[in-house]
Amino acid sequence: MLNMANSNGFFLFFFALFVGHGIMMLQSSALSSVPANQPYRTGFHFQPPKNWINGVMVYKGVYHLFYQYNPNGVKADGIKIWAHSTSKDLVNWTPHEPAIYPSHSYDIKGCWSGSATLLPGGKPAVLYTGIDPYRRQVQNLAFPKNLSDPYLKEWIKSDKNPLMQPTTKNHINASSFRDPTTAWLGPDKKWRVVIGSKVNNQGLAILFKSEDFLNWFQSKTPLHSANNTGMWECPDFYPVLVKGRSGVDTSLNGPFVKHVLKVSLDDTKHDLYTIGSYDSVKDVYTPEQGCIEGDSGLKYDYGKYYASKTFFDSVEKRRILTGWINESSRLADDIKKGWSGVHAIPRKVWLAENGKQLVQWPIAELQKLRTNHISLADILLEGGSVTEVSGVTAAQVDVEVSFEIKDFKKAEVVKPSWTNPQLLCSQKGASVEGGLGPFGVLVLASDDLKEQTAVFFRIFKDHDKYVVLMCSDQSRSSLNQQNDKATYGAFLDVDIQQQKLSLRSLASNFAIYSFSEKCIRAIIDHSIVESFGGGGKVCITARVYPTLAIHKAAHLYAFNNGTQSIKIAELNAWSMNTANTN
Ligand SMILES: *[C@@H]1O[C@H](CO)[C@@H](O)[C@H](O)[C@H]1NC(C)=O
Ligand SMILES: *[C@@H]1O[C@H](CO)[C@@H](O)[C@H](O)[C@H]1NC(C)=O
Ligand SMILES: *[C@@H]1O[C@H](CO)[C@@H](O)[C@H](O)[C@H]1NC(C)=O
Ligand SMILES: *[C@@H]1O[C@H](CO)[C@@H](O)[C@H](O)[C@H]1NC(C)=O
Ligand SMILES: *[C@@H]1O[C@H](CO)[C@@H](O)[C@H](O)[C@H]1NC(C)=O
Repeated sequence: MLNMANSNGFFLFFFALFVGHGIMMLQSSALSSVPANQPYRTGFHFQPPKNWINGVMVYKGVYHLFYQYNPNGVKADGIKIWAHSTSKDLVNWTPHEPAIYPSHSYDIKGCWSGSATLLPGGKPAVLYTGIDPYRRQVQNLAFPKNLSDPYLKEWIKSDKNPLMQPTTKNHINASSFRDPTTAWLGPDKKWRVVIGSKVNNQGLAILFKSEDFLNWFQSKTPLHSANNTGMWECPDFYPVLVKGRSGVDTSLNGPFVKHVLKVSLDDTKHDLYTIGSYDSVKDVYTPEQGCIEGDSGLKYDYGKYYASKTFFDSVEKRRILTGWINESSRLADDIKKGWSGVHAIPRKVWLAENGKQLVQWPIAELQKLRTNHISLADILLEGGSVTEVSGVTAAQVDVEVSFEIKDFKKAEVVKPSWTNPQLLCSQKGASVEGGLGPFGVLVLASDDLKEQTAVFFRIFKDHDKYVVLMCSDQSRSSLNQQNDKATYGAFLDVDIQQQKLSLRSLASNFAIYSFSEKCIRAIIDHSIVESFGGGGKVCITARVYPTLAIHKAAHLYAFNNGTQSIKIAELNAWSMNTANTN
């Protein structure tokens, strides 16, 4: 991660005491612990004093999160260190002393992003990018000092550092060589690691191999590269099972897995991934045919989400994705509120049944914070209607809604020029009446609807099939005009065969579209709206800063602004308790 500009000022650090098993939910009402003068401070999202994710791992049943932090406050471009928090449930967090900070010439100008790897026997190792006195980017190694300490509070750097560095021989660009991945073992028992880089405008995943984790040798060819994609930051490379939702160890390979390569595109600030195969003998990764590399490809999240990382949770046998959500406010406002940057709710990630994309869903542990459940079913939403969902703390809420569509006749016909879903969502925001949709929820809304963030679907007809567009429209999210209020959107892939089946049954007997396919889940936390469409096939995260719809003045609505009436098949909402975050 290179460019720190326009992030944050100085930071409030909320210390939480570690109690018992690390779960210390507030018993009082969900909103009471959020300071009244901090309408944007989140209640249950991990809020580091700042920034993006380094390694994440589970060690002796304790989850460790390392993240980039500028200890010197005000200036955004200060020297970075590895801050450290632990958790037993990925929801409540305990801060510790920084794990890694500049101390030697190989990292004296900063300890930047990296990854954690568990070596055989369970010993953790972290690889990280150090900035040396000549501002070269080099890769370093550190081990925990005391393996009996489940909190791994102290770390010792290898005296072989730096282990990988740019030289005149290897032609690696010294200012574009960073963010080592979690290492994996090949069939030859050698470790492999990938470092993000670029040559001219070609993004590179440079591969290094080692027998002992100390002596690393660069492979002749990168694991993968792609033209016209710019610098690849925070690469992540891992297998996913072809069948099932379980996660697998990073070193696993075989016919029962596909591989995922994720890169954070420095030029556009999006996390893109491809699905493909990994030949561990030739050591090359090949994306499947049809995979798009570059900014119009598959994104983990079509809103704000960057510098993410996964890890294999060996305890729960799942792969978990964590990502960083930037502010959308001005630097001056960030300095005023005293903090900047939030981590998204960790998501379980697996391969969709059709094998063409990933599916993500908030970790089940988040449900521990749910309280005050309300449930509605069978609610008709006529065209142009808005229905309040009351009885929950709308500024801090988890809501799931599924829709029932009886008649598709009014679906508008897709135009060939509609290739950019984000653009389409901004042209056809929630306030633009349609045929079938927009329908969805209005969150963080004021009672007069002057402020609202709309998360919704539109369904279009494309010859004999239907196309679902999912949007998160921030254009009316705040009366404050100075925020970035870009609208986000994506097409939701619905299996054509399955859709035909659904359509057939829909035509005959008013059947409900399956819950997972047409459902929206939105997790709302004061200034964050994390939305999941189609059971996690499309994820969109937005930052919003309402001025009216704050604390108890925030409302939640369901709406339909299409001419075709639809039904809410089922709606469930829960007020969310506040978690212990840093
Ligand atoms: C290592 O950690 C264990 C468990 O926290 C502790 O009991 C022990 O004293 C530590 N050893 C050293 C040398 O600090
Ligand atoms: C090396 O990286 C720097 C920083 O991104 C960039 O300005 C420069 O153009 C790169 N050089 C080459 C040859 O790609
Ligand atoms: C990348 O660009 C180079 C130079 O323009 C070209 O020779 C090469 O074929 C391109 N590679 C791919 C995979 O398109
Ligand atoms: C942070 O937010 C600003 C304003 O919305 C945006 O321009 C920038 O690209 C974002 N950076 C990242 C890393 O997401
Ligand atoms: C529905 O559409 C009308 C007409 O375009 C617009 O005035 C209204 O604000 C829209 N409603 C919502 C909830 O966006």
